[in-house]
Amino acid sequence: MSDHCIKIQNLRKVFGTKEILKNVNLDIKTGKCTAIFGLSGGGKSTIIKHIVGLLKPTSGEIFYNDIDISTLEGNELRAIRQDIGFLFQSGALFDSMNVFENVAFPLREHTKLDEKTIIKEVMEKLTLVGLDASRVAFLNPDELSGGMRKRVGLARTIILNPKVLLYDEPTSGLDPITSDVISQMIIALQKEMKTTSILISHDIQETFKTADYFAMLYGGVIVEYGDAEHFKNSKVDIVQKFLHGDSDGVI
Ligand SMILES: Nc1ncnc2c1ncn2[C@@H]1O[C@H](COP(=O)(O)OP(=O)(O)OP(=O)(O)O)[C@@H](O)[C@H]1O
Ligand SMILES: [Mg+2]
Repeated sequence: MSDHCIKIQNLRKVFGTKEILKNVNLDIKTGKCTAIFGLSGGGKSTIIKHIVGLLKPTSGEIFYNDIDISTLEGNELRAIRQDIGFLFQSGALFDSMNVFENVAFPLREHTKLDEKTIIKEVMEKLTLVGLDASRVAFLNPDELSGGMRKRVGLARTIILNPKVLLYDEPTSGLDPITSDVISQMIIALQKEMKTTSILISHDIQETFKTADYFAMLYGGVIVEYGDAEHFKNSKVDIVQKFLHGDSDGVI
């Protein structure tokens, strides 16, 4: 397998008259966690929506194992999506389904597994994300705390054993201790499932505990990329301002 299983090349995305992504170039290392930092509204979620094919580029390419995802449609796209787990920013669960059905949903959509195997898989994944599976399985999403909802969302994201995991703000809205638990879980899953992951988070300290590589999106381009040491010592002005919470002249 290639050293970089995802390659984003010259990605440009225009919404109406707004050019959100100008020219994004970023290679994602296989088996590692890469964080994307950037200002609110800068286009981070937009980048990962392109990786799952939810958005099509205005121009540019996104390669997954040398296949250009941006040109795929229908069944070909569905096949690739099975490899890629996406934890949405909103952590959206289906409110009309209980926890069990939420987590089972991708299995019912994408596989022909029998009910016994589905039950086994769902209970295993609920346990893996640190939930008491038999207690929560038949609760409805509105009976869960924010931290539990994130865990259920995570269980649903990993149910198809994806090779790539995309986390969009997995700890937003959580207290610092629960955030830390979720971050630890992301690291544990990385080890357990040997996934390649991309993490978007506004929590800089947590992100440095979780990710191996760091990219900074600013003005529609990646202005810095490297490991923690390289990134923290960056000479790029906006990176230092971002890391130290200095808003002077940023927008
Ligand atoms: N489908 C869409 N149609 C029109 N505009 C969009 C669409 N999706 C995103 N945008 C706009 O693109 C910009 C970037 O949005 P995006 O959600 O990617 O930012 P972000 O970096 O993830 O921000 P945040 O940190 O707040 O989550 C925003 O101005 C948003 O309004
Ligand atoms: Mg976002």
